[in-house]
Amino acid sequence: MVLQILTLFPEMLSGFADHSMLKRAQERAGVEIRLVGLRSFGVGTHRTTDDYPFGGGPGMILRADVVVPAVEWAMMHHKVPATVLWTSPQGRRLDQDWCRELARLEHIIIVAGHYEGIDERAREIVGGTEVSIGDYVLTGGELPAMVLVDAITRLQPEVLGAENGAAEDSFGEAGGWLEGPQYTRPEAYRSRAVPAVLLSGHHQKIREWREAQGLERTKRRRPDLLGGQIDG
Ligand code: ADE
Repeated sequence: MVLQILTLFPEMLSGFADHSMLKRAQERAGVEIRLVGLRSFGVGTHRTTDDYPFGGGPGMILRADVVVPAVEWAMMHHKVPATVLWTSPQGRRLDQDWCRELARLEHIIIVAGHYEGIDERAREIVGGTEVSIGDYVLTGGELPAMVLVDAITRLQPEVLGAENGAAEDSFGEAGGWLEGPQYTRPEAYRSRAVPAVLLSGHHQKIREWREAQGLERTKRRRPDLLGGQIDG
Protein backbone atom coordinates (compact mmCIF):
# COMPACT_ATOMS: atom_id res chain seq x y z
CA MET A 1 0.00 0.00 0.00
CA VAL A 2 1.23 3.48 -0.85
CA LEU A 3 0.15 6.32 1.47
CA GLN A 4 1.17 9.79 0.36
CA ILE A 5 0.68 12.90 2.47
CA LEU A 6 0.74 16.30 0.81
CA THR A 7 1.53 19.00 3.33
CA LEU A 8 3.13 22.40 3.72
CA PHE A 9 5.00 21.02 6.74
CA PRO A 10 6.52 17.64 5.88
CA GLU A 11 9.00 18.07 8.73
CA MET A 12 6.09 17.89 11.19
CA LEU A 13 5.34 14.37 9.97
CA SER A 14 8.75 12.89 9.25
CA GLY A 15 9.52 11.85 12.84
CA PHE A 16 6.12 10.27 13.17
CA ALA A 17 6.42 8.33 9.90
CA ASP A 18 9.78 6.87 10.96
CA HIS A 19 8.60 5.79 14.38
CA SER A 20 7.96 2.30 15.82
CA MET A 21 4.76 0.89 14.39
CA LEU A 22 4.93 2.87 11.16
CA LYS A 23 8.55 1.95 10.75
CA ARG A 24 7.61 -1.71 11.13
CA ALA A 25 4.79 -1.26 8.64
CA GLN A 26 7.20 0.12 6.10
CA GLU A 27 9.79 -2.56 6.71
CA ARG A 28 7.50 -5.57 6.89
CA ALA A 29 4.01 -4.88 5.63
CA GLY A 30 4.77 -3.41 2.24
CA VAL A 31 3.52 0.02 3.32
CA GLU A 32 5.19 3.02 1.73
CA ILE A 33 4.58 6.32 3.49
CA ARG A 34 5.65 9.23 1.34
CA LEU A 35 5.66 12.87 2.40
CA VAL A 36 5.23 15.42 -0.37
CA GLY A 37 5.98 19.08 0.44
CA LEU A 38 3.51 21.46 -1.17
CA ARG A 39 6.04 24.26 -1.09
CA SER A 40 7.92 22.83 -4.08
CA PHE A 41 4.73 23.25 -6.14
CA GLY A 42 4.45 26.93 -5.14
CA VAL A 43 4.11 29.52 -7.88
CA GLY A 44 6.50 32.31 -8.82
CA THR A 45 9.97 33.04 -7.55
CA HIS A 46 8.71 33.02 -3.96
CA ARG A 47 7.02 29.64 -4.39
CA THR A 48 3.77 31.08 -3.09
CA THR A 49 1.28 28.46 -1.94
CA ASP A 50 -1.56 30.54 -0.55
CA ASP A 51 -3.38 33.81 -1.01
CA TYR A 52 -6.13 36.00 0.45
CA PRO A 53 -9.71 34.80 0.13
CA PHE A 54 -11.75 36.48 -2.61
CA GLY A 55 -14.61 38.35 -0.99
CA GLY A 56 -12.58 39.00 2.14
CA GLY A 57 -12.39 37.18 5.43
CA PRO A 58 -9.74 35.91 7.78
CA GLY A 59 -6.77 33.74 6.95
CA MET A 60 -5.22 32.46 3.81
CA ILE A 61 -6.41 29.92 1.25
CA LEU A 62 -4.23 27.28 -0.40
CA ARG A 63 -4.16 27.90 -4.12
CA ALA A 64 -5.76 25.40 -6.50
CA ASP A 65 -2.92 25.86 -9.00
CA VAL A 66 -0.52 24.61 -6.32
CA VAL A 67 -2.56 21.77 -4.88
CA VAL A 68 -3.88 20.28 -8.14
CA PRO A 69 -0.44 19.81 -9.77
CA ALA A 70 0.88 18.38 -6.49
CA VAL A 71 -1.92 15.79 -6.32
CA GLU A 72 -1.50 14.95 -10.01
CA TRP A 73 2.23 14.50 -9.49
CA ALA A 74 1.62 12.22 -6.50
CA MET A 75 -0.90 10.19 -8.49
CA MET A 76 1.80 9.25 -10.95
CA HIS A 77 4.00 7.76 -8.23
CA HIS A 78 2.05 4.50 -8.19
CA LYS A 79 0.39 2.62 -11.04
CA VAL A 80 -2.74 1.87 -9.01
CA PRO A 81 -5.28 4.74 -9.15
CA ALA A 82 -5.32 6.77 -5.93
CA THR A 83 -8.14 7.53 -3.54
CA VAL A 84 -7.77 11.17 -2.53
CA LEU A 85 -8.69 12.28 1.01
CA TRP A 86 -8.85 15.92 2.05
CA THR A 87 -8.61 16.67 5.77
CA SER A 88 -11.33 19.08 6.80
CA PRO A 89 -13.55 19.65 9.82
CA GLN A 90 -16.41 19.78 7.29
CA GLY A 91 -15.74 16.27 6.05
CA ARG A 92 -17.33 12.91 6.72
CA ARG A 93 -16.50 11.79 10.24
CA LEU A 94 -13.86 9.05 10.41
CA ASP A 95 -14.79 5.84 12.21
CA GLN A 96 -13.39 2.33 12.49
CA ASP A 97 -15.59 0.91 9.71
CA TRP A 98 -14.31 3.54 7.31
CA CYS A 99 -10.72 2.87 8.45
CA ARG A 100 -11.21 -0.80 7.60
CA GLU A 101 -12.40 0.13 4.10
CA LEU A 102 -9.45 2.46 3.61
CA ALA A 103 -7.01 -0.18 4.87
CA ARG A 104 -7.95 -2.38 1.91
CA LEU A 105 -6.95 0.24 -0.67
CA GLU A 106 -3.66 0.08 -2.50
CA HIS A 107 -3.04 3.82 -2.98
CA ILE A 108 -4.19 6.75 -0.86
CA ILE A 109 -3.27 10.42 -1.16
CA ILE A 110 -4.04 12.59 1.85
CA VAL A 111 -4.03 16.34 1.35
CA ALA A 112 -3.44 18.09 4.66
CA GLY A 113 -5.43 21.30 4.49
CA HIS A 114 -4.05 24.35 6.20
CA TYR A 115 -4.84 27.97 6.97
CA GLU A 116 -8.50 28.71 6.38
CA GLY A 117 -8.86 26.07 3.73
CA ILE A 118 -8.17 25.07 0.15
CA ASP A 119 -9.59 26.72 -2.96
CA GLU A 120 -12.81 24.81 -3.63
CA ARG A 121 -11.85 24.18 -7.24
CA ALA A 122 -8.96 21.92 -6.23
CA ARG A 123 -11.27 19.25 -4.87
CA GLU A 124 -13.76 19.75 -7.70
CA ILE A 125 -11.02 19.10 -10.24
CA VAL A 126 -9.27 16.23 -8.46
CA GLY A 127 -12.25 14.56 -6.80
CA GLY A 128 -12.02 12.57 -3.58
CA THR A 129 -13.57 12.79 -0.14
CA GLU A 130 -13.21 15.21 2.76
CA VAL A 131 -12.41 13.53 6.09
CA SER A 132 -12.98 14.94 9.56
CA ILE A 133 -11.39 13.24 12.56
CA GLY A 134 -13.96 14.72 14.95
CA ASP A 135 -16.15 17.67 15.76
CA TYR A 136 -13.48 20.13 16.82
CA VAL A 137 -11.27 22.44 14.81
CA LEU A 138 -7.49 22.09 14.56
CA THR A 139 -5.10 24.61 13.07
CA GLY A 140 -4.09 22.31 10.24
CA GLY A 141 -4.47 18.97 8.58
CA GLU A 142 -1.17 17.47 9.73
CA LEU A 143 -2.54 15.85 12.87
CA PRO A 144 -5.62 14.51 11.05
CA ALA A 145 -3.28 13.11 8.35
CA MET A 146 -1.25 11.35 11.05
CA VAL A 147 -4.42 9.98 12.62
CA LEU A 148 -5.47 8.56 9.26
CA VAL A 149 -2.09 7.00 8.55
CA ASP A 150 -1.92 5.45 12.01
CA ALA A 151 -5.46 4.07 11.97
CA ILE A 152 -5.08 2.64 8.46
CA THR A 153 -1.58 1.24 8.87
CA ARG A 154 -2.24 -0.70 12.05
CA LEU A 155 -4.97 -2.63 10.24
CA GLN A 156 -2.47 -4.12 7.80
CA PRO A 157 -2.29 -7.78 8.84
CA GLU A 158 1.49 -7.82 9.19
CA VAL A 159 1.70 -4.76 11.43
CA LEU A 160 0.21 -5.99 14.68
CA GLY A 161 1.24 -9.50 15.68
CA ALA A 162 -1.51 -12.13 15.47
CA GLU A 163 -1.82 -12.38 19.23
CA ASN A 164 -2.16 -8.61 19.56
CA GLY A 165 -4.45 -8.36 16.58
CA ALA A 166 -6.77 -5.48 15.90
CA ALA A 167 -9.73 -7.84 16.19
CA GLU A 168 -9.84 -7.59 19.98
CA ASP A 169 -9.53 -3.82 20.23
CA SER A 170 -12.41 -1.55 20.97
CA PHE A 171 -14.37 -1.33 17.73
CA GLY A 172 -12.52 -4.50 16.65
CA GLU A 173 -13.85 -7.03 14.17
CA ALA A 174 -15.46 -8.93 17.03
CA GLY A 175 -18.03 -6.25 17.69
CA GLY A 176 -18.57 -2.52 17.73
CA TRP A 177 -18.11 -2.07 21.43
CA LEU A 178 -15.49 -1.03 23.94
CA GLU A 179 -12.80 -3.13 25.56
CA GLY A 180 -12.92 -3.84 29.27
CA PRO A 181 -10.12 -3.03 31.76
CA GLN A 182 -6.61 -4.46 31.42
CA TYR A 183 -4.04 -5.23 34.12
CA THR A 184 -0.37 -6.11 34.43
CA ARG A 185 2.09 -6.64 37.27
CA PRO A 186 2.11 -6.11 40.20
CA GLU A 187 -0.85 -8.32 41.20
CA ALA A 188 -1.64 -5.95 44.08
CA TYR A 189 -1.01 -2.23 44.02
CA ARG A 190 -2.03 0.20 46.78
CA SER A 191 -4.42 -2.41 48.14
CA ARG A 192 -6.04 -2.98 44.77
CA ALA A 193 -5.90 -6.56 43.54
CA VAL A 194 -6.15 -7.70 39.97
CA PRO A 195 -9.50 -9.49 39.38
CA ALA A 196 -8.90 -13.12 40.36
CA VAL A 197 -10.35 -14.56 37.17
CA LEU A 198 -7.44 -13.09 35.17
CA LEU A 199 -4.97 -15.06 37.29
CA SER A 200 -6.97 -18.30 37.07
CA GLY A 201 -5.49 -19.52 33.79
CA HIS A 202 -9.03 -20.52 32.79
CA HIS A 203 -9.17 -19.18 29.21
CA GLN A 204 -12.86 -19.68 28.64
CA LYS A 205 -13.75 -17.88 31.90
CA ILE A 206 -11.33 -15.06 31.10
CA ARG A 207 -12.90 -14.59 27.68
CA GLU A 208 -16.40 -14.50 29.16
CA TRP A 209 -15.32 -12.07 31.88
CA ARG A 210 -13.71 -9.73 29.37
CA GLU A 211 -16.75 -9.79 27.14
CA ALA A 212 -19.05 -9.00 30.06
CA GLN A 213 -16.78 -6.16 31.21
CA GLY A 214 -16.61 -4.73 27.70
CA LEU A 215 -20.36 -4.87 27.32
CA GLU A 216 -20.89 -3.27 30.73
CA ARG A 217 -18.48 -0.45 29.91
CA THR A 218 -20.13 0.11 26.55
CA LYS A 219 -23.58 0.34 28.17
CA ARG A 220 -22.29 2.89 30.62
CA ARG A 221 -20.05 5.03 28.39
CA ARG A 222 -21.25 4.57 24.85
CA PRO A 223 -24.83 3.29 24.76
CA ASP A 224 -25.05 4.75 21.25
CA LEU A 225 -22.86 1.87 20.06
CA LEU A 226 -25.56 -0.54 21.22
CA GLY A 227 -28.29 1.44 19.53
CA GLY A 228 -29.16 3.45 22.65
CA GLN A 229 -28.85 7.12 23.52
CA ILE A 230 -25.94 9.02 25.05
CA ASP A 231 -27.12 10.94 28.11
CA GLY A 232 -24.80 13.68 29.31
N1 ADE B 1 -8.65 20.35 10.05
C1 ADE B 1 -8.97 21.10 11.09
N2 ADE B 1 -9.76 20.47 11.96
C2 ADE B 1 -9.96 19.22 11.43
C3 ADE B 1 -10.68 18.07 11.85
N3 ADE B 1 -11.38 18.06 12.98
N4 ADE B 1 -10.66 16.99 11.06
C4 ADE B 1 -9.96 16.99 9.91
N5 ADE B 1 -9.27 18.04 9.46
C5 ADE B 1 -9.26 19.15 10.21
